[in-house]
Amino acid sequence: MKIVAPSMLSCNFSELGDEIEMVNKSKAGWFHLDIMDGVFVPNITFGTPILEIFNSLGKKHLDMHLMIINPEKYIEKFAGLGADTITVHYEACDDLEKIIGDIKKLGVKAGVAINPNTDVSLLDHLLEEIDLVCLMSVFPGFSGQKFIPETFPRLKELKRMINEKNTNTLIQIDGGVSLNNAQELISLGADVLVAGSFVFKSDSPKETIEKLHSAIN
Ligand code: DX5
Ligand code: ZN
Repeated sequence: MKIVAPSMLSCNFSELGDEIEMVNKSKAGWFHLDIMDGVFVPNITFGTPILEIFNSLGKKHLDMHLMIINPEKYIEKFAGLGADTITVHYEACDDLEKIIGDIKKLGVKAGVAINPNTDVSLLDHLLEEIDLVCLMSVFPGFSGQKFIPETFPRLKELKRMINEKNTNTLIQIDGGVSLNNAQELISLGADVLVAGSFVFKSDSPKETIEKLHSAIN
């Protein structure tokens, strides 16, 4: 089953409880939660108090995408807030192997995200250790950006590397995903599609999630 992961950054925060309930009842598989620090990326989003709400109301996999420097300082906190997957950025970690090990020791799945200008081959030696690669299809920082088409060849290469190693590493695509590119991304090997503005700026987010889900399954 391929997974739709709505990026909650684009939801209506004045009705957060209702938005979470909508996703609970939808065909979405995961909640994608974008945590930004204003240092690694030029934007600040949310932290602990909002994550507590997702932990108490969200009934699906909590996928925490950390766009922060020094992520090692926070993984224990986020694991305690119900993270099912914690994804850290390749570009933000001094000792990636250590943090991946530490995330897994907390009983959480470990993901590594790479920016559009980071070479996918740099992940080759890590594929056996990680549960997920988040291939950024925009530069991280904001939702509502345009999908970068060079993601397609990068995805092909990443999938080739994973097949060669024969690991179960999931490929997540994050940024500018819509019905225009969803099927092609899946046909090239993606497993999880994050979608923010395409879902939440539509007339019916729940129906849009359904459409995405049926397009890829
Ligand atoms: C970008 C975030 C994405 C973003 C996706 O830095 O990591 O998850 O919220 O939003 P859309 O789907 O609107 O590009
Ligand atoms: Zn994200």
